[in-house]
Amino acid sequence: MARERESYREDVIGRANVADTPELLAYYEELNTLDAAALWTIANRIEPWEPVSASVPVVWRYRDLREHVLRSIELVTPEMAGRRVVYLNNPGRTDVAAAVGWIYAGLQAMKPGEVASAHRHSAAAIRLIMEGEGAYTVVDGHKMTLGENDFVLTPNGTWHEHGVEATGSPCIWQDGLDIPFVNAMEANFYEVHPDLRQAVAFEVDDTTRTWGNPGLTPGSGGWNRGYSPMFKYEWQPTLEALRKYARCTEGSPFDGVLMEYVNPVTNGPVMPTLGASMQMLRPGEHTSAHRHTGSFLYHVATGSGHSIINAKRYDWSEHDIFCVPSWAWHEHANGSQSDEAFLFCLSDLPVMRALGLYREQALGDNAGRQPLA
Ligand SMILES: [Fe+2]
Ligand SMILES: [Fe+2]
Repeated sequence: MARERESYREDVIGRANVADTPELLAYYEELNTLDAAALWTIANRIEPWEPVSASVPVVWRYRDLREHVLRSIELVTPEMAGRRVVYLNNPGRTDVAAAVGWIYAGLQAMKPGEVASAHRHSAAAIRLIMEGEGAYTVVDGHKMTLGENDFVLTPNGTWHEHGVEATGSPCIWQDGLDIPFVNAMEANFYEVHPDLRQAVAFEVDDTTRTWGNPGLTPGSGGWNRGYSPMFKYEWQPTLEALRKYARCTEGSPFDGVLMEYVNPVTNGPVMPTLGASMQMLRPGEHTSAHRHTGSFLYHVATGSGHSIINAKRYDWSEHDIFCVPSWAWHEHANGSQSDEAFLFCLSDLPVMRALGLYREQALGDNAGRQPLA
């Protein structure tokens, strides 16, 4: 008996447009018994004219999520949970647990004195501190202290553990990983450290002290791994850099004053699969709309405003997180006439660029502004 089939026919020269006949339907059934199929029955679906993202734009408001994230501290221990995280579940990507595209993100809370067990995995991570004192991460023996809007890398294959000093306060941070991407590549491994802790083998905060000096590189060099040796990127120097740069640039019409975080050895992205940037929207600034390939997860480091994504307005304020799916039109507006707004952004731009898949388009109509739907 013939199965119900979706039709993807398009009446356009060069596109698949084959009408079903009894003979063809029988032919499709025969192919099906051989685990094969006729491309023209699905070609228009698997090769759309332009990217079709399954992700939907979402704003995760910190004021709504914060108490739930803190409540997880009372509900489960890090030992029980492995990782005690509330993850951001994009309604279009629940099948792969992604916040957007192939990027996973979650909010993790830890109270003073707690440490999560050391582990390593093929997925790469960026961890951005949202609030609290005394947070630290150890990556391959390098211990890093972390304050609000600092972030730390835990690259593919590095041993890492997170904790909060006993003298600190409850901490919340955002994790961002390429888990869905690595799973799509069917390449994910996970290991728990045999001792559950790793020894601190270097001076605390040595990576930023060694590699985080503008215009200077340590003569000893010799770093040849695919990720940045500077595991920690601090907020204060970033803020100063953007303010300095803003004095001598008009910035991008689409992003305001934006700087990408780089691997100081290569000047390339911090990790091969995940990129990070910080952008300043000057007081009253409203950027022009564009769209591009790649999935982008924004975190409001400071300030408030709104973004228009595919003709719909999304308001945001400090520590809210929102996503821009691939090929979605977007523009950003700072809601303040007196204060800057800073948006941290995690993306798969390094993958898009490395694979030659990056494409960008400006909105030409309506003076670069999307009419609201
Ligand atoms: Fe991890
Ligand atoms: Fe953009």
